[in-house]
Amino acid sequence: MTTQVKKICCLGAGYVGGPTCAVIAYKCPHIQVTIVDVNETRINAWNSDNLPIYEPGLDKVVFDRRGKNLFFTTEVEKAINEADLIFVSVNTPTKKAGMGAGYAADLAYIESATRQIAEVARSSKIVVEKSTVPCRTAESMRTILEANSHDDIRFDILSNPEFLAEGTAINDLMFPDRVLIGGLQTPEGFKAQQALAEIYEQWVPKDKIITTNLWSSELSKLAANALLAQRISSINALSAICEATGADIDEVAYACGCDSRIGPRFLKASVGFGGSCFQKDILNLVYLSEQLNLPEVAAYWKQVVDINEYQKKRFVSRIIKTLFNTITNKKIAVLGFAFKKDTGDTRESAAITLCKDFIQENARVKIYDPKVSEQQIFYDLSEPGVTYDIKDLKKRVTVVQSAYEASTNADAIVVATEWDEFKELDFERIYKSMNKPAFIFDGRLILDAEKLKSIGFRVHTIGRANF
Ligand code: UDX
Ligand code: ADP
Repeated sequence: MTTQVKKICCLGAGYVGGPTCAVIAYKCPHIQVTIVDVNETRINAWNSDNLPIYEPGLDKVVFDRRGKNLFFTTEVEKAINEADLIFVSVNTPTKKAGMGAGYAADLAYIESATRQIAEVARSSKIVVEKSTVPCRTAESMRTILEANSHDDIRFDILSNPEFLAEGTAINDLMFPDRVLIGGLQTPEGFKAQQALAEIYEQWVPKDKIITTNLWSSELSKLAANALLAQRISSINALSAICEATGADIDEVAYACGCDSRIGPRFLKASVGFGGSCFQKDILNLVYLSEQLNLPEVAAYWKQVVDINEYQKKRFVSRIIKTLFNTITNKKIAVLGFAFKKDTGDTRESAAITLCKDFIQENARVKIYDPKVSEQQIFYDLSEPGVTYDIKDLKKRVTVVQSAYEASTNADAIVVATEWDEFKELDFERIYKSMNKPAFIFDGRLILDAEKLKSIGFRVHTIGRANF
């Protein structure tokens, strides 16, 4: 079956636009997919052997279709003009200044992308909002498009939020739990929804493709992320009780997760959730609730983020207290810097907060992550809010190439990301190379605490007491 859409353009070659449209190209060889970005370095990387994002399985998909029906370019205007359907997958960071700073999403990139579509389009288009955005963004996009469009050109707006999780993006895209397409409840709106649905129908069972109105679709994305993050904050709040009582959070999560009404997923206690979505989307929901004059609702969701901050601070306090109430000039090996395993992404990673706190306490920090570059780590640690400039920072922080290098002469190891390779380390070797007493703080509950104790380590795990 051929769909009516023959050419797709995606604005934004990031973590969402790149993998999503690469999979569309892979699954729909009859559709030409062009991914554009204003960032030339990023586009060059997409056209090279070294893709700009690390995502298991992504290389295979891109290398299979690139140059055939998948293209990466900075020629935005040409790509817009040729396309029947345009995905808008640009970044929507939390606003740093002005109204709603710290909560609301900065829609400047969405707006400029929308204006660009309006300006250059010479034929009718379906414009699909793919970035996570506050409710009503589609409406604003529609207003901009309609006010600026030429002659007989019509724009149909759809909301098609992406639910992929980094690290499992390709699998999530190939086998999605659902695809959500929001549209205007008009004959034209339904037609546009149908055109997009036909693309997904090439590989997604029809009953998993949900169509709703625009508002439901936009809110569902924020709601899904808020509900997922809420589970993590709930289990993390319980982990504090476990540490104080002697209950074990993994046992509690297992016992609760066996209840089919609760289910086992997203109940892994941790040093705190990170990533580009959870915090941003919840704060968006908080802002929306306040705007709608629903302060109790706003306070309810805000608490999910507050517990996440508390969890990170609590872990740092435990580390300092255990290391005899001071970490000044102590050497701390931080294992993992990405916000979760199988990605090189560090956005809102708990490791950033931990490392900043260690630096502020004058510790010496050695960081190892299998996929995050030294440059990215220094960028994250020198962001505004930290008093150190890069030169000062480099006196306190070293980025190294292995967990062994990080641990040599260290007083403590802190596991910040759950990379599989950390489970396989030769801990006898590590123990021998460390200062004694040798401490391990497992912020991800991935290590075998009993085995480590038998080697001689003093082990502290989130959600477990050390009586
Ligand atoms: C999330 C949503 O899962 C995805 O549907 C949405 O499209 C984007 O936001 P992502 O942020 O990529 O995806 O990863 P996710 O697997 O949800 O993990 C987010 C954070 O929560 C990570 O820091 C992870 O380590 C943490 N986490 C996850 C836990 O601490 N415990 C868990 O049980 C699960
Ligand atoms: P996400 O995780 O949501 O995909 P990223 O920051 O990884 O976010 O990617 C968004 C991309 O969108 C960036 O590479 C950025 O350069 C690009 N971008 C922003 N504005 C535009 C625009 N008007 N046209 C094309 N690309 C854009």
